[in-house]
Amino acid sequence: MTAPALLRPTPLGSAAAPPIPAGQTLPRILSRLQAGERLLLSETWQHGQQLLEALDARLDLPGHGASFAERQRGQAIWAETSSRLLVPIRNHKVGVPGAPYIGFLAELYPEAPDFALPMVELLDLHKAWQHYHNGTPLAVLGRRLHPFYGTYAPTRVSHLELFGTWLSQYGGGRVEAVDVGTGCGVLAIMLAKAGFGRVRATDTNPNAIESLRRELERFPARPPILPQVADLLGDNPTLADLIVFNPPWIKGAVKSPLDQALLFEDGFFERFFDQAAGRLRPQGRVVLIFSNVLQLLLPDEPNPIEAELAQGRFRLVQKLSRKVKPPAGRPGPPRRTKERVEVWELALA
Ligand SMILES: C[S@@+](CC[C@H](N)C(=O)[O-])C[C@H]1O[C@@H](n2cnc3c(N)ncnc32)[C@H](O)[C@@H]1O
Repeated sequence: MTAPALLRPTPLGSAAAPPIPAGQTLPRILSRLQAGERLLLSETWQHGQQLLEALDARLDLPGHGASFAERQRGQAIWAETSSRLLVPIRNHKVGVPGAPYIGFLAELYPEAPDFALPMVELLDLHKAWQHYHNGTPLAVLGRRLHPFYGTYAPTRVSHLELFGTWLSQYGGGRVEAVDVGTGCGVLAIMLAKAGFGRVRATDTNPNAIESLRRELERFPARPPILPQVADLLGDNPTLADLIVFNPPWIKGAVKSPLDQALLFEDGFFERFFDQAAGRLRPQGRVVLIFSNVLQLLLPDEPNPIEAELAQGRFRLVQKLSRKVKPPAGRPGPPRRTKERVEVWELALA
């Protein structure tokens, strides 16, 4: 079976937009972008950065004080307007002076050396390349993790630490575990380190599975992890001692494959619990990493785990909860948050 194509920003033809005329003023360029024109950067990378900063200031979108819905609307306006500023790619390299090296241009577009991409997508590709190439140290793993482009990677660690606490006192079977929605594989690697004989790691995002495959190649002795592009638990019928899921935490419309890391739609948790009930050994455990962020953002939305427990198919063994620590290295004073992360341990009733 051929592997599903990796997600990547859609390449545009090199002639997708006219070059910005030399000497055109910044306000004129911004007006053209706002009026719906696509423009191709022709001067330097720094000029592109300047244009995006000026566009951001001109759009003056809702900030932290605004509601979730207002911020989402603002983000949509930003995404649409900023994506009209294109940058030429020549021979798999950014084709303007002063641009950084982005190895993903060769990896993700092997068939097309010359094309154009929105500058905002290139900035994302560049950031992702740095994370992938340099790796990010993760104390819960005692090693660096190298998330591939387009893969959810943890930026905070409170929930991983809480899961580590739970895992250290786990006394059940360790033959077979499933890490549902593995992302860059952090939980699967924690499970393998904890001595599970086999860890099936699924994700619908092909880049996540590519990320984990590449990560496993970095180990001197390959951990017993089987990555697979699959919906939820996949179709392998083997019963599991432990099913772990760090699902999306916020209810919302999924508009792109990457939204699936953060947003869930109606029926998502019901499908997960239906599958988990059929794949768990009688003494097995389902563990969900969750948060009260849903309650904070959408107070009228029912908690999907409590809704499942009310059905009587699973019982709650324990729930751990801890305040969220702000991300390390964040500039400015710490922002106060009521956010808590949670580990829910469930067994068949
Ligand atoms: C919040 S991220 C968690 C990633 C990783 N397990 C971690 O803890 O860092 C949720 C992950 O679930 C994946 N996902 C969303 N819907 C899925 C589905 N129906 N089946 C499998 N994976 C899914 C997303 O692609 C994403 O990688």
